[in-house]
Amino acid sequence: MTVLERMTSQEAIALEDRYGAHNYHPLPVVLHKGEGVYVWDVEGKKYYDFLSAYSAVNQGHCHPKIVGAMVNQAQTLTLTSRAFYNDQLGPYEKYLTAYFGFDKVLPMNTGAEAVETAIKLCRKWAYEKKGIAEQEAQIIVCEGNFHGRTTTIISFSNDASARKNFGPYTPGFIKIPYDDTAALERVLSSSDNIAGFLVEPIQGEAGVYVPHEGYLAKAKALCEQHNVLFIADEVQTGIARTGKLLAVQHENVTPDILVLGKALSGGVYPVSAVLANNHIMDVIKPGQHGSTFGGNPIAAAVAVAALEVVKDEKLAENAVYLGNLFREKLGEYVKSSNIVTLVRGKGLLNAIVINDTEDSSTAWDICMALRDNGLLAKPTHGNIIRFAPPLVMTEAQLLDCVSIITKTLQQFER
Ligand SMILES: Cc1ncc(COP(=O)(O)O)c(C=O)c1O
Repeated sequence: MTVLERMTSQEAIALEDRYGAHNYHPLPVVLHKGEGVYVWDVEGKKYYDFLSAYSAVNQGHCHPKIVGAMVNQAQTLTLTSRAFYNDQLGPYEKYLTAYFGFDKVLPMNTGAEAVETAIKLCRKWAYEKKGIAEQEAQIIVCEGNFHGRTTTIISFSNDASARKNFGPYTPGFIKIPYDDTAALERVLSSSDNIAGFLVEPIQGEAGVYVPHEGYLAKAKALCEQHNVLFIADEVQTGIARTGKLLAVQHENVTPDILVLGKALSGGVYPVSAVLANNHIMDVIKPGQHGSTFGGNPIAAAVAVAALEVVKDEKLAENAVYLGNLFREKLGEYVKSSNIVTLVRGKGLLNAIVINDTEDSSTAWDICMALRDNGLLAKPTHGNIIRFAPPLVMTEAQLLDCVSIITKTLQQFER
């Protein structure tokens, strides 16, 4: 037994508290093991995972096929850097681009890095193809966005805690309300210097805001009309989470630049990607962008396995079916509830809104009670609780979870 295995939850929490930066506020549960839709804490208590590491573990914890691909590749070749070719990257790039229907991919590691890459690609395209004067390119973003934590990305966030005292900020972004094509049209018509429109098809971190039907299609059409790149950040919504391979597919939209991360590896390894067609991707030349780990052989092998699992196990179809069931059951509960005002979402990316002020602790208290009752979820933005289980869940498991959630909520009814 290792030292860690003998540790109690309290001891593990105390270590993180003492030696780790306090940049998170985790729910007090110390996980030790995961399999499929379940995780176990260090004391051996079993939970349903209803967060899936913010939608990274869509394929379920420790999926044997994905872990197998990782172990196999780790024993063969782990990292070459892009100074040399490796025999995994090319086949992965071919598979990934065919899977999502793009000419080319630029491989990265984390979601934020991929968003940064998309921003750089968009700007470079604007200067070299669209003809915007250097330093003048603007990218339109949405209020309430979440695209990661780098300096440039937080520059256009409107979350005060993500921004405060991290300035000076990167210029070149125009913020408009989400789900508002009139605002988009106004900005597009007001300037010739717009390079791109960066958008989440559903705003995940903001609280699972699903835009009105037709928003994405209309936004894409406006971008086309103004020769502006439509950049879809599908880091959280992509890879079957919302019931389609990509959330933009609900409106038959093909983005000019697609950003993927999280479930691209099934949560076993940091793998992200930026996809685009040749006329955009070709502006990037050797030496202009890169990453030591981006496109490494383990990432390539893992991502192929993770994407095969999504297709083989029909995870998008399962997300549609279970998502509808979940919203139907929770919707019934909400009708007679004083503590929950609504349930919303698409596929298995859902949230409930708690009937309390944003600064109240009620959502947190409910998540603590859910934990005690064997289900792990986390509030996002005060009074909203996101529900995003692994997509490998069965109907019986989902109904069991609905029963845990509704029984827990009953404890809070006033
Ligand atoms: C839409 C979106 N984009 C980007 C990111 C950043 O990804 P990462 O945490 O891997 O940098 C996230 C993370 O939650 C996200 O939800």
